[in-house]
Amino acid sequence: MSEPVSGTVGVAVVGAGFMGGVHAAVLTEDPRARVRWIVDLDERAGGQLAAQMDARATTRLSEALADDEVRLVVVSTPVTTHHPVALEAIAAGRHVLVEKPLVMRPDHARELVAAAKAKGVLLGFGGNFVHAPKFRRAKELVADRTALGTLHAVRVVYRTSGPDSEWPRNRALAGGGACTDIGWHAIELCSWLLGEPRIEAVTAATQNITGVGDVEEQGVMLLHFEGGAVGQCDVSWLCPGGEQLTVEVLGTEGRVSVDFWQGMGITAFTTNKFAEVWEPNQGWAFPEWEWIRNSGYVQQDRSFVDAIVNGEPLGRAADSAIPIVSALDAVYRSAAEGRKIEIHD
Ligand SMILES: NC(=O)c1ccc[n+]([C@@H]2O[C@H](COP(=O)([O-])OP(=O)(O)OC[C@H]3O[C@@H](n4cnc5c(N)ncnc54)[C@H](O)[C@@H]3O)[C@@H](O)[C@H]2O)c1
Repeated sequence: MSEPVSGTVGVAVVGAGFMGGVHAAVLTEDPRARVRWIVDLDERAGGQLAAQMDARATTRLSEALADDEVRLVVVSTPVTTHHPVALEAIAAGRHVLVEKPLVMRPDHARELVAAAKAKGVLLGFGGNFVHAPKFRRAKELVADRTALGTLHAVRVVYRTSGPDSEWPRNRALAGGGACTDIGWHAIELCSWLLGEPRIEAVTAATQNITGVGDVEEQGVMLLHFEGGAVGQCDVSWLCPGGEQLTVEVLGTEGRVSVDFWQGMGITAFTTNKFAEVWEPNQGWAFPEWEWIRNSGYVQQDRSFVDAIVNGEPLGRAADSAIPIVSALDAVYRSAAEGRKIEIHD
């Protein structure tokens, strides 16, 4: 529980890349929030986004934290910077939303959660898909146990053609590869759809096919849940032809499947090439629409501002990220040791 905030919630966005741009745009649209600072080590990137948002730019987080109007810090920097950046913001008494993955190490996750509780600030994490309208509807259907019976398997396939920036292929900055980048979402979706039973053990295999970078480009992760259900996450950065995010939940009496990008969407065809459509933009194409809202970013960030303004707990706080961090940690140990890893925390 934190004190309700009167007036506008001042925001500092740390990291002016792809996700920093999404958060800044979403929060600028929220009349209760005002993006005051963009913090980026790259002066040019920070300056450009700050100019678009009518905010100030700095390369030093401490400068933004010296501004008393800043109540919320959004961390959208490379993964291994999340822990120190979030700790600094929490220590300065700010609410913090950290992009996924919260952190790579379970002890770091617990440390951040404890630090936020001790300071009385809110700590959330970027798990946008659980806020996405399509997945929320799927979860309502899955929760109908008369229709579904006993849930016994969930499968998430998440494939892209790989990251746009260079740092995600560098372990020192990214922590891990595809399992960390898109596998985080897959693990979270599996667990959330099943009602977040404890993840008791993990079995995983990872591959780097092209030899580029020092992280895995794809992986298969098997999550063994308390109660017997299994989650299967199949993630890859080596998938040309458009992003795929599909989910299937199986129960003894029924099933629910979601095709996030293509089902219930627009289907289009051209003998040439669409200018404003994501890959695939030739032949049969599946043009996206309102992708920021449909992906749950708007709902995620607004629910954080709601909690700050009303002095309420977050609907989904960083505590929910701890089992995902532990599962991801077990994924890498399983892949390295070639065996099933039990999780005891
Ligand atoms: N939720 C999602 O859908 C989603 C999608 C993509 C990325 N992400 C996450 O968002 C975060 C950022 O990814 P991105 O794709 O926006 O990366 P990006 O490469 O587009 O941008 C990162 C920015 O951070 C800056 N930066 C690096 N270290 C910094 C530091 N210590 N302090 C301040 N600025 C720093 C860089 O100069 C760069 O401008 C990552 O944690 C990533 O996992 C989440």
